[in-house]
Amino acid sequence: MEYNPDTGGKFKIVMNTYRVFGFWETLKEILLYLLSQKPHDDFDKKYGVMTSGVTESSEAGIADETARSLAVGYVPTREVVIRHILESTTKELDLNEFTFVDLGCGKGRTLIVAAQLPFKEVIGVELSPLHCEVAEANIKRYLSDGKQPALCRNVRVSCANAANFVFPDTNLLIYMYRPFLGPIFKHVADNLRRFQAVTGHRVLIAYSCPVEELMLEEYAGFVKRTEYQVISMDYSWSLWECQAEISPILALTAQD
Ligand SMILES: C[S@@+](CC[C@H](N)C(=O)[O-])C[C@H]1O[C@@H](n2cnc3c(N)ncnc32)[C@H](O)[C@@H]1O
Repeated sequence: MEYNPDTGGKFKIVMNTYRVFGFWETLKEILLYLLSQKPHDDFDKKYGVMTSGVTESSEAGIADETARSLAVGYVPTREVVIRHILESTTKELDLNEFTFVDLGCGKGRTLIVAAQLPFKEVIGVELSPLHCEVAEANIKRYLSDGKQPALCRNVRVSCANAANFVFPDTNLLIYMYRPFLGPIFKHVADNLRRFQAVTGHRVLIAYSCPVEELMLEEYAGFVKRTEYQVISMDYSWSLWECQAEISPILALTAQD
């Protein structure tokens, strides 16, 4: 993504913001941006859950020091952004054959939105035991609330470091909202590449606020399908597809 755009680039950013947020929300976004204000967030009220707020990783009960130092603190994705991402990425997919995985799912907000689509499974992976507990309670509450329809009821939270997570044997739509940096991101990218090469499944990666996307650009095997740079870097996202070729080493791993 271009971080210092020229005039043409700025126009494109406003147009992308319009595509993600619609007319009135874009106007609001521009005003909020100019006034350096935060947008109003009514997700929790709407779903009767607790996903709002910001938590530093140092306050999230994470025992593993290395993982904690590479973790970005908790901030939930805005509903309008995750809805736009899901609408744009799933249009041509048979969702019964895809599992949605939010790597660094925090308190589970995106899982609630993804469960409204007919995915085979919806999984959140979260390092912080405190966030995991809240995410599980949120999912339980959401699934037991008859007012809000869930098309996928197969929703779970795995309390684990994303670098150690074993992906289910299906096509994957991975979601990440700048959860972790450096070596952990690289480890996860390697795991996804290996998973794709060994299984042949489709691996799509929707990366929101893609601070480490240079790593994907530099790797062979990741193709950028699309990107939406919007007015705030926090809500910009890009879609990648993993297309690793089977190397002799990976083929050997598959036989083990
Ligand atoms: C910016 S928040 C995003 C939350 C959620 N995905 C959303 O969009 O609403 C990033 C989350 O990633 C988690 N995280 C950081 N490092 C992680 C790791 N190595 N494995 C799993 N989760 C991690 C953090 O604890 C935090 O909850």
